[in-house]
Amino acid sequence: MNCCIRNSQEEDVGQVHSIYRHHVLHGTASFEEEPPSVEELMRRRGNVLDRGLPYLVAEVDHQIGGYCYAVPYRSRSAYRFTVEDSVYVDHRWNRRGIGQMLLSALIARCEMGEWRQMVAVIGDSHNAASIRLHQRVGFRLVGTLQAVGYKFGRWIDSVLMQLALGAGDSTPPLDRISPRRRATFGEAEPLG
Ligand SMILES: CC(C)(COP(=O)(O)OP(=O)(O)OC[C@H]1O[C@@H](n2cnc3c(N)ncnc32)[C@H](O)[C@@H]1OP(=O)(O)O)[C@@H](O)C(=O)NCCC(=O)NCCS
Repeated sequence: MNCCIRNSQEEDVGQVHSIYRHHVLHGTASFEEEPPSVEELMRRRGNVLDRGLPYLVAEVDHQIGGYCYAVPYRSRSAYRFTVEDSVYVDHRWNRRGIGQMLLSALIARCEMGEWRQMVAVIGDSHNAASIRLHQRVGFRLVGTLQAVGYKFGRWIDSVLMQLALGAGDSTPPLDRISPRRRATFGEAEPLG
């Protein structure tokens, strides 16, 4: 398998959409129940890039085998050094190391920026693949929110995992945001 991790381009969003659509329709990793449109995924990607965060794809034999991105964990300003990851691999390419390559690259990219913590909000405590993937790259289990989702006729947990990025909480962050900007921080586009 010839796999390279690179920045996504707008032309990749069609294949990203096919991957995500499958997982929305058939899995419980995402709590979305209706697949969003290609245009909506383009808008979400734009929001990620506008915040200076990475949106990466795995190109496998000239096709998109998976993708990942980071979004702000929550919108209030004091959360601004914490991001949440998302990683999805084409179900036909599972268990070949693509998820680990993507997530490792995402962590490395976020560590180059000002972010200090990465949180994984994993849909479904039965999602062994995602829990194992996150453990593998250093995340620790923080806790489980029980039955916060309901999909395919059953209650679904959210598993929270966390990884310190770079110096983590051992030093103060590099704060580039003015107090004035903090006041409107949460008014940006909705996360996604
Ligand atoms: C989770 C996901 C991204 C993993 O991607 P992947 O390319 O299949 O994972 P990798 O091949 O890199 O494997 C990473 C680790 O997870 C393990 N793993 C992968 N699939 C597994 C499964 N179904 N059950 C148990 N462990 C699994 C691998 O064995 C490996 O661990 P190891 O190195 O100790 O053997 C992929 O299964 C996926 O897209 N799932 C649906 C969406 C999802 O859950 N995304 C995460 C949302 S936060």
